[in-house]
Amino acid sequence: PLPGWTAEADVLVVGSGIAGLTCALRLREHVARVLLVTKTELSAGSTAWAQGGIAAALAPEDSPHEHLDDTLVAGIGLCDESAVEVLVTEGPARVRELIGLGARFDTDDSGAITLTREGGHRRDRIAHAGGDATGAEISRALIAQLEAVRADPGIEIIENALVVDLLTSDEGSVCGATVHVIGEGEIDGVGAARARAVVLATGGLGQIYSATTNPSVATGDGMAAALRAGAALVDVEFVQFHPTVLHLGPGASGQQPLISEAVRGEGAVLVDSTGRAFMADVHPMADLAPRDVVARAILERMQATETDHVLLDARHLGSQFLELRFPTIVARCRELGIDPATEPIPVAPAQHYASGGVRTDLRGRTNLPGLYACGEASCTGVHGANRLASNSLLEGLVFAHRIADDLVARLAAGELPLVGASGEGSAGLLDAGQRDVLQATMTKGVGPLRSRESTSSALASLVELAGTTSDAEPGPHSWETTNLLHLGQALATAAHLREETRGGHVRRDHPDSDDEDWSAHLVHVRDPGDG
Ligand code: SIN
Repeated sequence: PLPGWTAEADVLVVGSGIAGLTCALRLREHVARVLLVTKTELSAGSTAWAQGGIAAALAPEDSPHEHLDDTLVAGIGLCDESAVEVLVTEGPARVRELIGLGARFDTDDSGAITLTREGGHRRDRIAHAGGDATGAEISRALIAQLEAVRADPGIEIIENALVVDLLTSDEGSVCGATVHVIGEGEIDGVGAARARAVVLATGGLGQIYSATTNPSVATGDGMAAALRAGAALVDVEFVQFHPTVLHLGPGASGQQPLISEAVRGEGAVLVDSTGRAFMADVHPMADLAPRDVVARAILERMQATETDHVLLDARHLGSQFLELRFPTIVARCRELGIDPATEPIPVAPAQHYASGGVRTDLRGRTNLPGLYACGEASCTGVHGANRLASNSLLEGLVFAHRIADDLVARLAAGELPLVGASGEGSAGLLDAGQRDVLQATMTKGVGPLRSRESTSSALASLVELAGTTSDAEPGPHSWETTNLLHLGQALATAAHLREETRGGHVRRDHPDSDDEDWSAHLVHVRDPGDG
């Protein structure tokens, strides 16, 4: 696309979940000009959908060290311990700052934050808000802060702005992005947002699968643009399938209602179609085992009982408690004709989170000068093969601060000059009409259960789809679909290569973990010239 308009800033922040908003707000305190762009509305991303909460060692009897241990166990040998150390030690202070910014977490009668438990945590460590509307409250509080500075000439916010590709200089530094804005007036259509540095906080890629808990905007735009520009992606095969997603029938597609792990944290129990509570036989932590263990056990029970779902029994918690503690979930279930107070909830695993992403160091820097990544779009190393529940909001919060602080220091030192762009991606485009085919391919071949056969067949179908690119009209839908294709190729390749089962990556033909050969990360780098 040929840019029709140009905007300029010190830092371009892409995305408005907890990572992007935190980074923009903190940068704004010290940096002259921040440009925040977001694909639709400020509140439309995954953060606002987060239910369970945000994990941090806030209880007097808890410690960052115990949080670190639980995170490492969940990540099954692939976490970067130094990144986890940062997460758990800086986390509590960052959560308290969030409260200082106006986020209202649930408290008990004495005013202390009430903490719950989720899968893989050995302590009550999850702070929540509005019962099960934690992300919505965090999003509300951060957006309120941003609205308060909207009139400030130092910060510009552009909504309805899809980042198409990164701009790079002759020396390979990232110096902005091409952005498609559906606006009115001055900034409309495709333009160039130029900056000394770019922070990608664009969230996940859930829409690569037919069914996901992610909102429709989660099409991996930042990850894909980074990949095309030559950034390294890592751990992309570790897709997290949430164990308890409301089962709406075999044909359900798009965003599906999540039934938070916190429901199990408060005592709900998984049972199979024969009424047997099966998790106690699978893991010492039973229904609160790490997420990958629970998802796998459910899939096994579904196979053994030849059904397409299991049941989550929360009836004994009672109507009053359920309505108070889980208002969002109860309302959504009732809208769909299921009353959790009187009947078990049908659930099955569905895509929930990309544990991998654009590889960063502890300051959020990627391998491309000038490019940072944060939140679900990034891979800081804190999640390993399987993210611990409620560590994702925390990761966005903690590393957004670090990125802002690193940028402030570098800009002050004159390290990031504004340079001219010499290149931008020019990939052939996949027609938006192929999105269903792509999603069906990924779901069948690289879903929760994989094999050499299924990944080979997915790769072959993706090659066929890639062969049809360049036919499509440029526009938001074809750009998004092309992003899903490029990430699908990386994901399927990694899933094909990793011949073991670990965390979110389950290979039926290699059912065990192989520490000798596979205590390693798969890094995916695409030739920037590859259309
Ligand atoms: C949940 O509420 O179960 C989701 C929490 C998470 O994904 O960390």
